[in-house]
Amino acid sequence: MAKSNWNADNIPSQIGKTILITGANSGIGLEASKVLCSKGAYVIMAVRNLQKGEEAAGQIKATNPNAKIDVMLLDLADFDSIKKFSEQFHLKYNQLHVLINNAGVMAPQKRELTKQGFEVQLGANHLGHFLLTGLLLDVLKKTPGARIATQSSLVHKEKQFGGADIFFDDLNFEKSYNKDYAYGQSKLANLLFTYELDRRLKASNSPIIATVAHPGYTKTNLQKNYGFFVSVLMNTLLAQNVETGALPILRAATEEKLRGSEFFGPTRMNEMKGFPELVTSSDKSYDKLLAKKLWDISEKLTGFIYNFG
Ligand SMILES: NC(=O)c1ccc[n+]([C@@H]2O[C@H](COP(=O)([O-])OP(=O)(O)OC[C@H]3O[C@@H](n4cnc5c(N)ncnc54)[C@H](OP(=O)(O)O)[C@@H]3O)[C@@H](O)[C@H]2O)c1
Repeated sequence: MAKSNWNADNIPSQIGKTILITGANSGIGLEASKVLCSKGAYVIMAVRNLQKGEEAAGQIKATNPNAKIDVMLLDLADFDSIKKFSEQFHLKYNQLHVLINNAGVMAPQKRELTKQGFEVQLGANHLGHFLLTGLLLDVLKKTPGARIATQSSLVHKEKQFGGADIFFDDLNFEKSYNKDYAYGQSKLANLLFTYELDRRLKASNSPIIATVAHPGYTKTNLQKNYGFFVSVLMNTLLAQNVETGALPILRAATEEKLRGSEFFGPTRMNEMKGFPELVTSSDKSYDKLLAKKLWDISEKLTGFIYNFG
């Protein structure tokens, strides 16, 4: 694909599409919701705090009164909340054109656990989205042209973030907690999940595709756990704005004629900034055995077996 300075103007009309985005009240999720509403999509903003969600929806409606939005409660750090969300979703909707797995938590100073006792980055960023996607697969199957777009990170391959690797001998960092390794692990898991999901969809002759993106370094609330220097100073000096940072996931979610497993990210400044293009992920992310091992353990930990039939 030629470099195209791909931006929101390249997104075709989304009228008639139902798009669900997690972590929609803040940062990239909010910006992506805004853009998708402006293209006519019906956007389901999934949030873990309804008040914040309504405020975010209000912000969009303030500039776009015709925006079609449903705010729904979803805490990805609680399997019960995900199951309840899925039940509500099935009562309200019978189509889902795009599922955007965007929500994420980064590097809490102290090890935090999900409701079911998993380290929160593994639990919410990966396992939560794994379960959510599996529970919504039946609706995606019924929707022509459906896809799943997941948000990863450039740090999935950085040494400082564990290499990054999947630490099967201590997935939940019970022996010793390294906040950066735990984040890197969850973001590598997002890639392994996407590629394995896409392979399994193709093996079952499903037309659904799975794509993935990373936003480079974008100024949002994500880095708040790193304190003033990173979250204010570095974000102001180095990070790109959220309008540009939202473009890779928007491209992964909306570009027509994708085949599945595409990975979009910025291409300037070592992929920290710029317009989205196809980029490559770490060698580890393409390891099929590793992906299968992660898939199997994710089914075990969530207690959810995917049905591709
Ligand atoms: N910004 C970057 O430079 C960067 C770089 C690489 C990857 N990413 C990825 O981009 C995605 C979006 O992050 P962002 O930069 O937009 O950060 P953000 O502004 O902090 O947004 C993160 C969103 O995820 C939500 N969230 C966190 N834990 C959740 C849970 N347990 N259940 C449901 N929602 C939850 C947050 O909700 P609350 O507002 O309630 O906390 C918020 O809406 C993340 O997956 C992140 O890993 C960002």
